[in-house]
Amino acid sequence: MTQAVIINEVGARDGLQNQHARIDVDAKLELITAFVAAGLPAIEATSFVSPKAVPQMADADVLCSRLPASGKVQYSALTPNLRGLERARAAGMREIAVVLSATDTMNLRNINMDLAASTAVCSETIRMAKEYGMRGKAYVAVAFECPYEGQVPAPRVLELCEAMITAGADEIVIADTIGAANPAQVKTLVGECVRRYGAQRVSAHFHDTRGFALANVWASLEAGVRKFDTSIGGLGGCPFAPGAAGNVATEDVVLFVEQCGLTTGVDIVKLRLAVKIAERLVGQALGGRTSRWLRSRD
Ligand code: COA
Ligand code: ZN
Repeated sequence: MTQAVIINEVGARDGLQNQHARIDVDAKLELITAFVAAGLPAIEATSFVSPKAVPQMADADVLCSRLPASGKVQYSALTPNLRGLERARAAGMREIAVVLSATDTMNLRNINMDLAASTAVCSETIRMAKEYGMRGKAYVAVAFECPYEGQVPAPRVLELCEAMITAGADEIVIADTIGAANPAQVKTLVGECVRRYGAQRVSAHFHDTRGFALANVWASLEAGVRKFDTSIGGLGGCPFAPGAAGNVATEDVVLFVEQCGLTTGVDIVKLRLAVKIAERLVGQALGGRTSRWLRSRD
């Protein structure tokens, strides 16, 4: 099993989509440039969604056309439908992600489609992305618990994973959108995905609502997963999923993974600079659980 862990930084999308203060393109690019400088290998830059649904992402086209060039970074963008895919393609993106929530209500709140319609639209978007030669990821959101419908049965999540793989998805992202999962559940569900599709095609996305996120990262690592979504300073949360706290903090996961003897290639000192930029952008103190300890090392 490889010792290298890929960190996919989602702060510029999951982190900023929920902010009240307007953050302009230059400020977002300053943050993304700091991510690149810190050596983050994968960055979710934005989402090509309806500007009425998520006004903070209305600048996606301009932002993507100005992303810092770096042969080492894999940029991606979230695309909820074919219109989003076409916009992402026109902006030069090479990787897209669709979001399929595991319940009817969450899909309706998030993308205004029920589960059947969203499964069809996500499948078609992935299929087209592959035709365009792009990499296509599929999130299965609220994979453990839905804020509207409660506990989500694992067989349904596995069925949706299968549908996305059949459509051609290169990667399945198991997302605990509201931070409700525990490591025992994670071990079972993520472990089953790894058995079915191989560790290369499975990644995980945790929120830290109950303080279980790092434990869930560990459960995923033990199941063989080597790719995680994280957000700078722990910023984040879906505007359509009430009760969700921020994502697991990038600096927490980097420190945790490295101290477990795995490698991320991320420079933790430079990452702290990115935390400071994010704090300035959102006008509040950020930082994962390790931030006090990291500050004491400055
Ligand atoms: N990018 C930009 N605009 C889009 C779009 C896209 N990908 N998809 C649709 N639109 C526009 C339409 O042109 C239309 O504009 P108009 O009102 O000016 O005519 C409007 O959005 C509504 O389009 P419609 O097809 O009826 O969509 P909808 O109202 O059913 O909304 C989504 C569906 C998917 C577009 C919308 O719910 C959305 O963008 N959700 C994103 C949610 C999100 O980002 N969640 C957080 C991350 S998981
Ligand atoms: Zn999230």
